[in-house]
Amino acid sequence: MCGIVGYVGSRNAAPIIVDGLRKLEYRGYDSAGIAIHDGKGIEIVRALGKLVKLSDALEKRPLNGTTGIGHTRWATHGRPSEVNAHPHAAGPVAVVHNGIIENHVAVRAELEGQGIKFLSDTDTEIIAHLIHRELDQGAPNLFEAVRKALGRVVGAYAIAVVSRAEPDVVVAARFGSPLVVGIGEDEMLCGSDVTALLSHTRNMVFLEDGDVVELKQNGYRIETVNGTAVDRKVKRIDWSAVQAEKAGFKHFMLKEIHEQPDAIEATLRGRIDLQNGDVHAGEMGVTPEFAKTLGRVYFVACGTSHHATIAGRYWIEKIARVPSVTELASEVRYRDPIFFPNDLVVAVSQSGETADTIAAVKAAKAAGAQVLALSNVLDSALPRMADGALYTHAGPEIGVASTKCFTTQLAALLLLAIYLGRQRGALSKEQGQEILQALWETPSHMREVLGDADYMHVIAKKLTHAKDVLFLGRGLGFPIALEGALKLKEISYAHAEGYAAGEMKHGPIALIDENLPVFVICPRDSHYDKTLSNMQEVRAREGQVIAIATKGDEAVMELAQHMVWLPKVNDDVLPLLTVLPLQLISYYVANLKGNDVDQPRNLAKTVTVE
Ligand code: M6R
Repeated sequence: MCGIVGYVGSRNAAPIIVDGLRKLEYRGYDSAGIAIHDGKGIEIVRALGKLVKLSDALEKRPLNGTTGIGHTRWATHGRPSEVNAHPHAAGPVAVVHNGIIENHVAVRAELEGQGIKFLSDTDTEIIAHLIHRELDQGAPNLFEAVRKALGRVVGAYAIAVVSRAEPDVVVAARFGSPLVVGIGEDEMLCGSDVTALLSHTRNMVFLEDGDVVELKQNGYRIETVNGTAVDRKVKRIDWSAVQAEKAGFKHFMLKEIHEQPDAIEATLRGRIDLQNGDVHAGEMGVTPEFAKTLGRVYFVACGTSHHATIAGRYWIEKIARVPSVTELASEVRYRDPIFFPNDLVVAVSQSGETADTIAAVKAAKAAGAQVLALSNVLDSALPRMADGALYTHAGPEIGVASTKCFTTQLAALLLLAIYLGRQRGALSKEQGQEILQALWETPSHMREVLGDADYMHVIAKKLTHAKDVLFLGRGLGFPIALEGALKLKEISYAHAEGYAAGEMKHGPIALIDENLPVFVICPRDSHYDKTLSNMQEVRAREGQVIAIATKGDEAVMELAQHMVWLPKVNDDVLPLLTVLPLQLISYYVANLKGNDVDQPRNLAKTVTVE
């Protein structure tokens, strides 16, 4: 996730673009850059790090001109560095991009074969070269060149482009990544969201996938990539600046909850080989040979990431048939753990910087184990230490309570299990296809569940005075019970316990009375009958059951006070859905209590201390 801004008008473009990028910094801050047409040519200034570094650089080297583009980066391909910072130039054009180009390796090889030299490690640079090639081959203008070039690109993008030959034009386009056009007075803008544009105009056009737009000082035109002219409605946006930064949501956490379907799509993009029921290994560093011979998958992680690894362990054992354990990193580092050289140690960490997880990885490496880092932050400490990386590509998560980073970790872990299963022959092509198909359909099922948010609000209202809450689940429902309890306690400050439903009779059953709300994760999976019995045990003691169940389940309906319905899906993708109502309910409870949802007391987003 990156932020892009474009401007063409009569004012000096650079301060307007930098101001827009400041509003988009929540989308990434690994580097920033700007390209301005100064009437003679295109001048580019880029800087590693936060936007303030770009502002410093612009003070030393001011850029003047009325047309330009800018970018704030969340690195996905190529480490954060000035060379990989956008804009990327090729011949007369400069490009900024938000998204992931799936076929960049093949296109890059083709272009290199034609003698083109690449300067960065990014996927974006191919777009600049493709546009340049179209211009060289006779495209009459930048708009046509961009349209044609995008015909070669597979993946997700929002781009903005300027060209030396057209000092008063910005061309922009989107497919799978957001892009908004702002219609000002004697000026046109574009940006990744309305926040970047609101101080200049409230009249916006939300581009649709496949749209290419040409912006000039006094107007714009839109065509599809295929060359059909289209008309998009102009909408008036009345949000305040603060509302806009959160895309209209009250808190980042709520926004991030709703971003999950898109985030999962980003995790899956370019990794699924549906035809062969397989997964592309990418940068994982796990060769097919090692996958066949490894003896154990050993997960280390903390907090929410640890919960993801419990699901990971289930999948690895079930799908890849490899023994697997998961340990809290904070425990591993102070024990005398045993690692073997044929262990694959998988360190799961949103930030990639958690001190305990780093210490556990050091111990694993010292013992000669191969390490795979599963992280959201490109080139953070863990991926740098590890032998390979599996990035979740969820984009920055601002709310301290992890939501989209948890579900994208789940998706990535399921991909890992399928990859290992296929290499080891434990999973047939058809079985692989079945799970991958289910995973592929998951974002649309997530949208369906998130569509019931108002009902989660109703349930939350009943819980605002609860002092203790129990969460129960079996199998893949167990890590979700733990995660549901963690979400509720960290932002609503209610005491909550997550338990394996089968453990209830070994202690927590003593807590149950008419005042105890009990969430039971009870979809129609292979554990269904057993979990239903546990629900009956709760009801027999007057506990208040809130069930997360499969649509239309009458047996559950008879027992529960509140029902949250899920679509019927493949068992393996269930945790990506069952957690959604729990995130929403925790959010609403905390909000109803007036808590600081995005920055709960005593917590930090990245825990770089013991
Ligand atoms: O960055 P990490 O995933 O390594 O962070 C680990 C935990 O601190 C983190 O998952 C924490 O539990 C969540 N923010 C809770 O929502």
